[in-house]
Amino acid sequence: MTGQTFDPSHFRNALGSFATGVTIVTTVGLEGEDVGMTANSFNSVSLDPPMILWSVGKNAMSRPAFAAAEHFAVHILATQQKALSDRFAKRGTDKFAGLTVERGPGNVPLLKDCAARFKCRTAYRYEGGDHDIIVGEVIEFDHLDAAPLVFHSGKYSALAPHRAADEAESAAFSRSFLGFLLPRVQYALFEPIKKAMQQRAIGLDEYFALSALAAKDLSMLEIAELGRFYDRSFTPAEALKLKNRGLVEPAEGDGAAMRMQLTANGHALMLELLSIGKDAEETLLERIEPTEVQALKSLLHRLVKDTPSVA
Ligand SMILES: Cc1cc2nc3c(=O)[nH]c(=O)nc-3n(C[C@H](O)[C@H](O)[C@H](O)COP(=O)(O)O)c2cc1C
Repeated sequence: MTGQTFDPSHFRNALGSFATGVTIVTTVGLEGEDVGMTANSFNSVSLDPPMILWSVGKNAMSRPAFAAAEHFAVHILATQQKALSDRFAKRGTDKFAGLTVERGPGNVPLLKDCAARFKCRTAYRYEGGDHDIIVGEVIEFDHLDAAPLVFHSGKYSALAPHRAADEAESAAFSRSFLGFLLPRVQYALFEPIKKAMQQRAIGLDEYFALSALAAKDLSMLEIAELGRFYDRSFTPAEALKLKNRGLVEPAEGDGAAMRMQLTANGHALMLELLSIGKDAEETLLERIEPTEVQALKSLLHRLVKDTPSVA
């Protein structure tokens, strides 16, 4: 038979994307010895009559036993039976050493604690390239309510119900979403400042306006616009409060366009609050290497640079 030439490892990888359970197929050998091998080529074939199939590699040492066997048993492994799967996937070893087995039709060895066991009579054998396809008629079966061992992309795995997988994904996202991480950092930085503000009867919106004015003189409109990025609102009422407390004063203009500046008292208060903020930052960043702190700040600056800003 002429076949298409594939890169065998690519072909194997593509096949591996089909997730399967894992089975151990057992029988009795030509000299009465117990024979078994790990196989994931198992599949159901027919309900009536009840039939299953699997395929054995032509190079497998167990092949002659299965080629002659009248009976065999397929064991579907439970999730905790990975070690058993590994044991039966090793050629040339006594795979049954130390195992207690039961016996099925034709004296076939039966392994314990499997998710399901199908005791079969060999019905057909077909040539299948480098494998023999063996079809068995199921004579008896038993079934435990156990989670199956899974094989996918050359690795063992375990089942996760779809909803749980979605939930795990969304939980992982919530844990790593910057939108949740940054407010946690913000909380740690602002808690000490908030306490100091409470003692001085300064609200968050007022604090925000004072911080903005500590950087440069701004109009009411500019402060209100900046506030959008920090979820703060700044109204003429707050401006008046700050003015009455002697913390800000008009610099030039009037109405919404009036530019405001910090008074000497305003500057002194901001210096106090800034030093509390600096201490909070130092405490928070203590556990991080200075180079990492630098990298963190420079990355955040880059991100902030690309966000919308006040014209
Ligand atoms: C998860 C898994 C699935 C396997 N499926 C098959 C299979 O379906 N058919 C097969 O011939 N070998 C399969 N193998 C490989 C055999 O288990 C392995 O070649 C074993 O050494 C054969 O034993 P033997 O040579 O002593 O007969 C599988 C191995 C693993 C780990």
